Amino acid sequence: MVKASRSKKRDTMTAQTQTTWHHLSSDWINWADRLAPAAEKINRHMIEAADLEGLARLRAAAPLDVLDLASGVGEPAFSFARALGDAGGHVTASDIVPEMCDGLSARAVEESITNISVIPADMEKLPFSDQSFDVVSCRFGVMFCTDPDQALCEAHRVLRSGGRAVYMVWAPMVDNPLFAAMDAVLGNILGVGFESAGLDPFAFGHPDKSMMRLEDAGFTDIAATTHSPAGRIPEKVAFWKPQMDMLFGNVLRTASDMDRGAIDAAMFETLSPYIENGHFQVPICFHVLSAKRA
Ligand SMILES: C[S@@+](CC[C@H](N)C(=O)[O-])C[C@H]1O[C@@H](n2cnc3c(N)ncnc32)[C@H](O)[C@@H]1O
Repeated sequence: MVKASRSKKRDTMTAQTQTTWHHLSSDWINWADRLAPAAEKINRHMIEAADLEGLARLRAAAPLDVLDLASGVGEPAFSFARALGDAGGHVTASDIVPEMCDGLSARAVEESITNISVIPADMEKLPFSDQSFDVVSCRFGVMFCTDPDQALCEAHRVLRSGGRAVYMVWAPMVDNPLFAAMDAVLGNILGVGFESAGLDPFAFGHPDKSMMRLEDAGFTDIAATTHSPAGRIPEKVAFWKPQMDMLFGNVLRTASDMDRGAIDAAMFETLSPYIENGHFQVPICFHVLSAKRA
C-alpha cells in the first residue's frame, strides 16, 4: 500500500516535470542553433571524460554505442555523434519530452548527422536491455529527475562492463552569477525563481556528495573535474536571454512589456560588475563526473 502510494506520488512529480519541460521545448528549439558553438566547446570535456579511445580498445574496435539521456534538442548527443564519426558507432539520444525529441530529430537532419537515433525515454525507467551501451552521457539533466538515484542505477544497468557514465552538472548557484542574478531579478519582478518553478539545477553541485551517489549506484573509478569558463560578450548584448527563456520562457511569455523591460534593466545592473573593457565576462561553473561500470 505504502509502496503503491509512493509510486503514484513519483509518477505525479514526473508528469509535472514533463509538463514544465514540454512548455519550454519551443524555447529550446528557438535557441539551439545559436548556442551550438558554445555547447560544442563545453561538450568536449564530457567526450574526454568518456575516453572513447580506451573504450574502443576494450571493445576490440567494435563500433561504440552511446546513450545520451535528457538530450533536450541535441546536446551533447550531436557532439558524441561527431566524435564517433569515422570510427563508426552510434548515438541513441533520448528525452522524456516528445517535443524535445522531435526538435532534436529535425536538427539532426539539418546538420546531416546520420549516426544518431532518437527515443523518448524517462531516464528513471529506461526502455533498454541490461548492458547495451558503452557510454551513458547526460548534460544538465539528472538533477531534474524525481529520483536521480534511480536514474543513476538505470544508467549503471544499461552500461556494458567497462563502460563509462559521464554527467555534466551545475556547480552551486553562488558560483554561477548568471543564475543567481536571474533567480533574484525574476523573484523581485515576477515572483518566480528556480524553487517556485520546481527546478533545482544545483542538486548535484557538490562533487563529493555526487561521487558518493555514483558509488551507491554501483559505479567504480569515479572522478570529478570542475570547469569555470567565461565568455567575452559585448555589453550591449543581453546575453542572459537564451538561458532565461530556456528556464522561464513559459512565465516570461505572460509578462507585460513593462516587466520584460524592467527584467532586462535589472539583469544589466546586477551583472554590471562583470563588465570589463566594454564586455561582460561572467563565468559559468560546472562539474564533469565520470564513473565506470566494473
Ligand atoms: C536543462 S535541459 C538539458 C538538455 C540538454 N541535455 C542540454 O544540455 O542542452 C534538461 C532536460 O532534461 C529532460 N528531463 C527532465 N527529466 C527527465 C527524465 N526523468 N528523463 C529524461 N529526460 C528528462 C527535460 O525534458 C529537458 O530536456
